[in-house]
Amino acid sequence: MTALRPLAGGLRVSAASPALRHRSLATFPLDRRRTITSYGYTQAKSLVYSKYGEPKDVLSVHGHSISPPSGSGVVVRMLTCPINPADVNQIQGVYPSKPEMNTLLGTTEPAAVGGNEGVGEVMSVGSSVKGLQKGDWVVMKYTGMGTWRTHMAVDESQLHKIEDKTGLSPLQVGTVSVNPCTAYRMLLDFATWGFRGDEWFIQNGANSGVGRAAIQLGREWGIKSINVIRGREDKTEEQKLKDELYGLGATQVITEEELQGKGMKDQIKEWTRGGREEVKVGLNCVGGKPGVALAKFLSPGTTMVTYGAMSKQPLALPASMLIFKELKFTGFWVSRWSDNHPDLKKQTVDDILQLTRNGKFKDIPVEECSWGWDTEVSTLSAAVQGTLGGFRAGKGVFTFEKLDV
Ligand SMILES: NC(=O)c1ccc[n+]([C@@H]2O[C@H](COP(=O)([O-])OP(=O)(O)OC[C@H]3O[C@@H](n4cnc5c(N)ncnc54)[C@H](OP(=O)(O)O)[C@@H]3O)[C@@H](O)[C@H]2O)c1
Repeated sequence: MTALRPLAGGLRVSAASPALRHRSLATFPLDRRRTITSYGYTQAKSLVYSKYGEPKDVLSVHGHSISPPSGSGVVVRMLTCPINPADVNQIQGVYPSKPEMNTLLGTTEPAAVGGNEGVGEVMSVGSSVKGLQKGDWVVMKYTGMGTWRTHMAVDESQLHKIEDKTGLSPLQVGTVSVNPCTAYRMLLDFATWGFRGDEWFIQNGANSGVGRAAIQLGREWGIKSINVIRGREDKTEEQKLKDELYGLGATQVITEEELQGKGMKDQIKEWTRGGREEVKVGLNCVGGKPGVALAKFLSPGTTMVTYGAMSKQPLALPASMLIFKELKFTGFWVSRWSDNHPDLKKQTVDDILQLTRNGKFKDIPVEECSWGWDTEVSTLSAAVQGTLGGFRAGKGVFTFEKLDV
């Protein structure tokens, strides 16, 4: 995680900053439809937390203002930001990387802004900014930059420019950096593929953002997939979900119950032509028993990559998987990968966006939370709180109403 680097001449005035109280939000001549005052300051609101806990208890909205950018500084208006499970874990204080809490925004207590992913539009740039101009779309180069805010003052070096936004929506760009990148890297980096259409991967949490991306990449690259979802009480709903994943290009979709049922060994043998078509990688989003059940169907010598722990249960692996099948068990964390490989991340993002432009990558289902100037904190924090609920119709996303004219 890279902390958001403060800017020279970036965030200056806050209602909470005693030395500058004469320039509090109330004294700027601010039209409610506009966030830019006649002095050139941008009025912003951020969803912040000063202590760890449940989002509904610790999140608050903080109003502040941003001075016009200087040097390599850029002011960005956020367009769309997802609410990912890791964002919630971070607020709860149970995620390994913790954003720095500080008073740069003028909060009375040191605070961090929630959110790690999103797309923004450049509003203004400092005099030495070379690679960006007003109207460009940008995504965050690093995690931990705190995207849940209407506007952000940031150094040019911390942003990736979307070179060609033609044919792309803010939702597609705002959700590309975490889930699709994770699926892309896990599929490509943990197995050697022939791309002949006779190889498989297996995954649980197949209806998650990552799972949906993996299915579509597999279809594009000629890799067949066995996709495991949690069964639904309502069997019509369950079939609808299965059909949705078949629509994305899934080869097979089964429930956890079916995976762990008696007939599955023979069934998978039949799908893989008696095992001649190898199941070369497993993507484990869930852990616990479902994770072990998944590993059972990997071909000898292959790898299971754990990237999530939605069941909150540890993986208890039978020794035979290690000794006789020589399976390898490893993990992947896109945050660390992105921070270590910023250039490869840009290539990965560009590649996925090209697939999106070509209509080969469908939008994820979302539960949208519209964020306007007067949106209450209770609305915003409820959207965050709901994220870990399970059996959801779609991923939570903040979409920002356009206030600048
Ligand atoms: N390591 C990394 O770099 C990385 C990157 C991205 C995501 N992740 C992790 O991957 C996981 C999925 O993230 P996402 O953004 O793709 O999620 P998402 O789109 O919000 O989907 C959540 C998924 O988790 C499942 N789920 C929820 N509660 C569960 C439970 N108690 N037991 C089993 N499954 C449960 C959901 O299935 P139902 O529909 O059945 O509830 C759904 O498939 C999270 O753990 C996230 O932190 C890790």
